[in-house]
Amino acid sequence: MNAILITLNIIVLSGLAALALQWPPALFAFLIVGPLSILSIWDVSKGRLSARQIFVSTAAVSVAGIVSASYVWPAALYGFVVVGPVVLLGMVDMFQTRRAIRRNFPVIGHARYLLEEIRPEIQQYFIESNTDGKPFPREERSVVYQRSKGERDTVPFGTQRDVYAPGYEWINHSMAPVDPAESNPRVTIGEGVCSKPYRASLLNVSAMSFGALSGRAVEALNVGAREGGFAHNTGEGSISPYHLQGGDLIWQIGTGYFGCRSEDGSFDPERFAERASLDAVKMIEVKVSQGAKPGHGGILPAAKITPEIAEIRGVAMGRDVISPPGHRAFSTPVGLLEFLTRLRELSGGKPVGFKLCVGKRREFLAVCKAMVETGMHPDYIAVDGGEGGTGAAPVEFSNSLGCPLVEGLTFVHNALVGAGLRDRVKIIASGKISSGFGLVKLLALGADVGYAARSMLMAMGCIQARKCNSNDCPVGITTQNPSLTAGLVVPVKSARVARYHAETIEAALELIGAAGLESPADLRPWHIMRRITALETRHYGEIVRFLEPGELLSSKLPEDFERAWNAATASSFHHVSDRVVAA
Ligand SMILES: Cc1cc2nc3c(=O)[nH]c(=O)nc-3n(C[C@H](O)[C@H](O)[C@H](O)COP(=O)(O)O)c2cc1C
Repeated sequence: MNAILITLNIIVLSGLAALALQWPPALFAFLIVGPLSILSIWDVSKGRLSARQIFVSTAAVSVAGIVSASYVWPAALYGFVVVGPVVLLGMVDMFQTRRAIRRNFPVIGHARYLLEEIRPEIQQYFIESNTDGKPFPREERSVVYQRSKGERDTVPFGTQRDVYAPGYEWINHSMAPVDPAESNPRVTIGEGVCSKPYRASLLNVSAMSFGALSGRAVEALNVGAREGGFAHNTGEGSISPYHLQGGDLIWQIGTGYFGCRSEDGSFDPERFAERASLDAVKMIEVKVSQGAKPGHGGILPAAKITPEIAEIRGVAMGRDVISPPGHRAFSTPVGLLEFLTRLRELSGGKPVGFKLCVGKRREFLAVCKAMVETGMHPDYIAVDGGEGGTGAAPVEFSNSLGCPLVEGLTFVHNALVGAGLRDRVKIIASGKISSGFGLVKLLALGADVGYAARSMLMAMGCIQARKCNSNDCPVGITTQNPSLTAGLVVPVKSARVARYHAETIEAALELIGAAGLESPADLRPWHIMRRITALETRHYGEIVRFLEPGELLSSKLPEDFERAWNAATASSFHHVSDRVVAA
């Protein structure tokens, strides 16, 4: 900065001096500008001037220099084409009141905002290594891109991971590996209870609404699901025409009840029954919470609301749509089960489930108690981890709320096993599945089926620009801006989604075969190893204590469940002692 200023001053001074040699009257200008300039160079070199003073003196020197020069050489006035806007910008900066950096560092302060704007790109393209990008490292993103495009997905020379670093994980292979199991194996959800049970793929598209995603992105996911034979969760923003491209749908219902909402914003059973009877709808999911913002309703920023979205959701334009944090349709664990049972009936016997990110353990155990006491149960529970993605979330909710997936999934699995319910309730888990190993790990820790959201977006070309909350997604996925969605060509992207799904399943089945297992259902926690310290490793069977079937119903409760189980009651989400006091 100082160097630029000094150079500028020297240019102006030497220009004036040269002019004076040709035309002596120019010396008069030199007499005014010269001392000013020399003073400013002197002060700058001593570090005495503030950036504001530097700007004012430079502007004065430049303007005076141009004006003086123009007396001899009128074309010098063209100098204002460059100097004029810069001086104006600096003056605006100095007099505006909102940004201290711009007030204190006129003109040059803009560089800070520019750099801030392009920082993620610089980080991603020039600084980030193959293994340290966030939330998905480049290596994980690359494998999604390669598989979705059908390109070579092998790696040369050996792993880049530090296999001796704490946190490194792997699956134990067998000396007697077997051929991979059948392709795209199925897990039946709702068997024995629903008249229309669903045979789900091992990996499905996790909830993401039209609104958060563009119509084209939703369409590409749905066509991909149709071609690849897997399910596509609608997200809480209701079913749009883009969802109806022939792919299986899991209709998610959040606290805004979009698509089955009455005038006052509560649940409307008739509207629900009408939409749930669509052939495309294969399962119904009540969203209790999601990992990226548990306890917070969905957020659709006003910038992303088009008239079409407003109509599909039944909301007004021009304002952020923020769903309430909790459901109005139920307020107790038994109430949740009654609501699910009602939805199953209204949908004509389709499987129903609820999605949550684990928070207070007692509350989930209260739901388990309610299942045991009433005999009602969901057909599946979807567990999301605190590390989960979102279109938009408050930063505190994203960073500091919600149980991470490993703990949440193993807890839900344990609670269902301990309450003797595991054979009736399937578990779907979502949490950064991007490769076959990501899926296998969750299956080993207790999931029956996986959900993937962000890797499916990457299969469609998401570059992890992290602009989902701004309507500026550069690849047309999380934006409603037509000039950006134009870049997303549905037939190309849907084929990529289907290919990514097929290759990920295949990679998972190969790993399972390498572990000597015939079926994904044979995976157990002890197949997955984790490095704890440089010298110590453990399998997940040692890291997490897994309960025996019915253990929570016995008189000797497992120690780590005792307090929460005793404090849970089927009739309330509150602590049992609160209920006694209230009574
Ligand atoms: C753009 C976007 C929108 C989302 N919208 C919803 C939603 O409507 N309902 C919901 O339950 N989860 C929503 N999620 C969360 C995902 O369904 C998923 O649970 C989470 O991202 C974890 O999966 P992942 O790690 O594979 O991305 C959204 C995620 C993203 C990235």
